[in-house]
Amino acid sequence: MEIRKVGVAGCGLMGSGIAQVAAMAGFATVVREVSDELLQKGLGIMEKSLAKLAEKGQITSEMKSSALGLLKPTTRLEDFADCDLVIEAIVENLDRKKELFAQMDKIVKPEAIFASNTSSLSITEMMTATRRAPRFLGLHFFNPVPLMKLVEVVKTVVTDPAVVETGLAYGRKVGKTPILTSDRAGFIVNRLLVPYLLDSIRALEEGAGSIEDIDNGMKLGCNHPMGPLTLNDFVGLDTTYYIAEIMFNEFREKRFAPPPLMKRMVLAGMLGRKSGKGFYDYTDPKNPKPNKLLVG
Ligand code: 3HC
Repeated sequence: MEIRKVGVAGCGLMGSGIAQVAAMAGFATVVREVSDELLQKGLGIMEKSLAKLAEKGQITSEMKSSALGLLKPTTRLEDFADCDLVIEAIVENLDRKKELFAQMDKIVKPEAIFASNTSSLSITEMMTATRRAPRFLGLHFFNPVPLMKLVEVVKTVVTDPAVVETGLAYGRKVGKTPILTSDRAGFIVNRLLVPYLLDSIRALEEGAGSIEDIDNGMKLGCNHPMGPLTLNDFVGLDTTYYIAEIMFNEFREKRFAPPPLMKRMVLAGMLGRKSGKGFYDYTDPKNPKPNKLLVG
């Protein structure tokens, strides 16, 4: 199965990155958002990222122009009609995703493969909204997509083995190392990462250490690029909270239960980097300052 033309539904942080790496790998790439405003915002993210990669010598200016030339931004789902692979990266809401897949199923050629970038929702449930179950899989990328080297390829119990192979090959073509996993909430990475992120919040709640010391512990003691509380802010507390709830509902295990402090921070709009405040204050984004969150 050869992929020549790729569609990406959603041009937010993840969708823009997924479309960018597809275009950088030489695929004709249609990227769709629901409004021109959101589309322009996503294109801005891609332009900035490509400019950064060119500035650092990781790509040439010709590669940057060629990638931009291969991108076709649109607000029309009809533009996906002749895509060979359509990757969904819209909001993490099962009903919205199912509705989109059902619509696309009527528009996109029947032999095309559908994929979701969901981090935790069930690929099998999304698949039921279409009539192409064997041609449906998960392709889970990591943030920031242009830099992170991994893609999780998620197979359901009915994904055609040839489609799985195509998914793995596509991951390699866009410069990632694919790993194969099955459709269980959290797949491989979030199954391990989410309990760790939640536990770092519990450690803070229980007074194991300060925000900075917990982060430095894992950064300097384990050579992680970011400490866990910084990573919570980077991913977004609302996002991790949401993923944790899904995993808790699937497995009913305490390690997936979001801690009370996290819930309160989400309610208070302290979502991390994107809202300017989380475990750190990003008023000066280059120099985040830890927030005082607990008594004392
Ligand atoms: N495109 C191009 N360049 C980018 C970029 C992008 N999207 N994002 C960042 N960069 C550049 C920065 O501008 C910076 O350039 P500079 O050196 O010229 O200033 C360079 O990359 C390095 O960035 P930073 O200085 O901010 O610092 P780092 O060396 O720490 O690198 C990082 C940044 C790659 C994000 C690194 O900190 C890292 O790997 N962090 C962990 C990220 C992680 O764990 N991601 C997974 C999250 S979980 C997930 O996505 C799953 C989901 O389901 C929740």
